[in-house]
Amino acid sequence: MPQLQEMMTIVSQREVAKQIFELILTGEMVAELDLPGQFLHLTVPNSAMLLRRPISISSWDKAAQTCTLLYRVGDETTGTYALSRLTAGAVVDVLGPLGNGFPVDEVKAGEEILIIGGGIGVPPLYELAKQLEATGCQMTVLLGFASADVKILEAEFSALKNLKLKIATDDGSYGTQGHVGLLMDELTVTADAVYTCGAPAMLKAVARKYDALERLYISMESRMACGVGACYACVEHDKENENHALKVCEDGPVFRGKQLFL
Ligand SMILES: Cc1cc2nc3c(=O)[nH]c(=O)nc-3n(C[C@H](O)[C@H](O)[C@H](O)COP(=O)(O)OP(=O)(O)OC[C@H]3O[C@@H](n4cnc5c(N)ncnc54)[C@H](O)[C@@H]3O)c2cc1C
Ligand code: FES
Repeated sequence: MPQLQEMMTIVSQREVAKQIFELILTGEMVAELDLPGQFLHLTVPNSAMLLRRPISISSWDKAAQTCTLLYRVGDETTGTYALSRLTAGAVVDVLGPLGNGFPVDEVKAGEEILIIGGGIGVPPLYELAKQLEATGCQMTVLLGFASADVKILEAEFSALKNLKLKIATDDGSYGTQGHVGLLMDELTVTADAVYTCGAPAMLKAVARKYDALERLYISMESRMACGVGACYACVEHDKENENHALKVCEDGPVFRGKQLFL
């Protein structure tokens, strides 16, 4: 897949939940987007901040030539804050699409698919669910958030067919009170494949529960510099080969469960 660097144009940017911004970009890169779970590497509008920010692609619309990202903004000293100040018409220097995404081709009609997301790990799972909708599988989507005011994409997931959505919040301000692991423990379906993205503790709980499943796909986060596999800033131990390091930016961000020590 070609990787491009492009000055993409902002179509819109708005705060959709507390300190979480939805950024819609347009550019030729949209034509190259393929698997859900890939990310873009964005330059922030502050010349003192040299490192790009990796942000997952939440969804895209090839006909409209747009893609949508959802990202959490830090305090005023952060690059994401500077990015969030940009408005429609501004341009952003983008490298992408990067990394290996979630495989979707192998999913067949009638299969039970479990999708588990937490916090700002939820956005890439939306394009995944959109693509899986077309396969005729049955999806159960479990999403966990700290509280109701940082809940994102509920309406978008709910609008998809063959999908059961359950939401938990840590403080009980929406849905089930507790973390997403509680929803996982209540499940009665046997999953043919599990896809997950979220905080390390959540990934660990999912990996522990589904460690015997061949089709367990885990999207990882890491501090990144180059974003293209050259600098080794983002390595993880390879569980299948102790003499080998996995690069989150290039070999991931999506890995099979048995590749990772969690
Ligand atoms: C593959 C991937 C996909 C991601 N997708 C999303 C997403 O869809 N939405 C979202 O809100 N966040 C996502 N993140 C996390 C996001 O990259 C960081 O929150 C962001 O880089 C923090 O930048 P900052 O300007 O707010 O912080 P600063 O403190 O200004 O950042 C300083 C440096 O640390 C790095 N850094 C800080 N926190 C993180 C982190 N958690 N992960 C990686 N690098 C970090 C920054 O990139 C920057 O280089 C993703 C990370 C990865 C690796
Ligand atoms: S960020 Fe440079 S190798 Fe992954």
